Amino acid sequence: MKNILIIGGGAMGSAFTIPCIDNKNRVTITEPYSKIFIKNLSSKNKFHSALKINLSKKLKFRKFSSDLLNEKFDLIVIALSLSGIDFIGKQLKNLRVKSPILVLTKGLKYEKKNKRIWTISEQLIKNYNASNVSVLKGPCLAKELARKNQTSVVIANKNIKIAKSIGKIISTKYYLTEYSKDVAGIEVSSAIKNIYSMIIGAGQSLNSSSNLFQKSILEMKYLIKYFKGKDETISGLAGVGDLYVSAAGGRNSKMGSYLGKGFTFKSAKRRFMPKDTIEGEQLAREIAPFILKKINKKKIPLMVYFLKAILNNKKLKII
Ligand SMILES: NC(=O)c1ccc[n+]([C@@H]2O[C@H](COP(=O)([O-])OP(=O)(O)OC[C@H]3O[C@@H](n4cnc5c(N)ncnc54)[C@H](O)[C@@H]3O)[C@@H](O)[C@H]2O)c1
Repeated sequence: MKNILIIGGGAMGSAFTIPCIDNKNRVTITEPYSKIFIKNLSSKNKFHSALKINLSKKLKFRKFSSDLLNEKFDLIVIALSLSGIDFIGKQLKNLRVKSPILVLTKGLKYEKKNKRIWTISEQLIKNYNASNVSVLKGPCLAKELARKNQTSVVIANKNIKIAKSIGKIISTKYYLTEYSKDVAGIEVSSAIKNIYSMIIGAGQSLNSSSNLFQKSILEMKYLIKYFKGKDETISGLAGVGDLYVSAAGGRNSKMGSYLGKGFTFKSAKRRFMPKDTIEGEQLAREIAPFILKKINKKKIPLMVYFLKAILNNKKLKII
């Protein structure tokens, strides 16, 4: 039995408690930001409003504090959205936490000062002095994990032994783990699939979406290599695996379908998805200054059209 702390009581952080508890660990969850999730997790029946299930009675909720991060855990899991990474990084920096850290968050960050793109693990290690950081990515819809539908994910660390030791703690019959040393490739791939799933969603027929799917894979492969990831990662769980699930369902591809119908991003957001976070759009704004300046546009035409359409709030013309 291991002692696990999960930071982030949103859909994914809360769903992740389920295999951790089923694997007989002592699991604590904390929520630093959302009043709704704090209310859900601290309630008697632990009904989660996003997952629409009652979480286990064995799950312990603790108020977020730096004292909590200082306690001894065998694993600290970060399940915040991208906008929470700087917040948690600053907390960890002051504490110099020694426990292994596992990041579920998907995304990339543009560092204006150094004019480069950081992955989340790079940010935590280089900006916030975190050590022993692994990442977990792959096709996993939180609602499906909460129903214990079989899911496969990949844990990446340059030291594969660490990745495997984490897998042993968290995997179950329905939550299967694979391993990779390609941390950069896994992180880049799992982030940019949010953009490519919007692009694929813009296809207005199965034929056109399939065409966009195939071209997206070629562009993802190019970008993974550009950011020093490995070729083979595109065919793994964090590559085509995650792209498939995001293109087939989810908020990014839904927004993509409105863009494909001729709506601009802002009008589609206002009319159809006013309360939804669209991770692909947030990432597009984050990485556009770098991608449009530094990368050969001929190699990634879909990405270039897409970024320009989002930045200028113009119609997306990709087919
Ligand atoms: N690795 C995986 O298998 C996997 C699977 C699904 C989702 N994800 C990723 O997990 C992350 C969370 O997804 P989710 O579905 O739980 O989202 P969610 O919106 O349900 O939850 C977001 C979480 O981030 C917190 N948060 C938001 N803004 C914040 C801020 N400014 N400061 C601090 N905390 C903040 C919220 O309070 C909440 O805890 C996303 O990056 C998503 O892509 C990973």
